[in-house]
Amino acid sequence: MENQIIMLSLLAMTCTLAMAFEPSPLQDFCVADYTSSARVNGLACMDSKLVQAEHFTYSGFHLAGNTSNPLGFSVTPVTVAQLPGLNTLGIALVRFDYAPWGVTPIHLHPRATEIITVLEGSIQVGFVTSNPDNKLISKVLQKGDVFVFPMGLVHFQRNVGYGMLLPSLL
Ligand SMILES: *[C@@H]1O[C@H](CO)[C@@H](O)[C@H](O)[C@H]1NC(C)=O
Repeated sequence: MENQIIMLSLLAMTCTLAMAFEPSPLQDFCVADYTSSARVNGLACMDSKLVQAEHFTYSGFHLAGNTSNPLGFSVTPVTVAQLPGLNTLGIALVRFDYAPWGVTPIHLHPRATEIITVLEGSIQVGFVTSNPDNKLISKVLQKGDVFVFPMGLVHFQRNVGYGMLLPSLL
């Protein structure tokens, strides 16, 4: 059954990028030192003399996520937990994969604007404006489309294509 769905399907893939503004840094970077017990606004910085290209690299976005779950979607995050060079930069990236009718339930990011790019398939996105209007702003995106969810507004994404969004994403 699942194989049939995948065979018949158009693959849809989405990519999202979430950004938050931060104060201007006083240094080029602050590669996370996961072992430090220091508590700062972000993780402590490793010795910059030890920093290498690997600290700014993540490999794995070519791999589809597992969407075999009740919501039919998966998240492959690239945050400071996966990419130490992101520490203090106020930016993260995620890959989303959606099964047919897979959905990212309504949620919000209090401090981050999110921008999404569709890599494969089609997906409905939407957000709701704040009080007193509470207006739904929604549309269906196609491959190559970009959409932005303004900071702090509740939003959702759902696969409205006929197949696996192949996997797709931020
Ligand atoms: C995907 O997740 C389901 C449910 O957890 C699991 O049964 C299945 O083995 C996973 N598939 C792969 C390819 O990891």
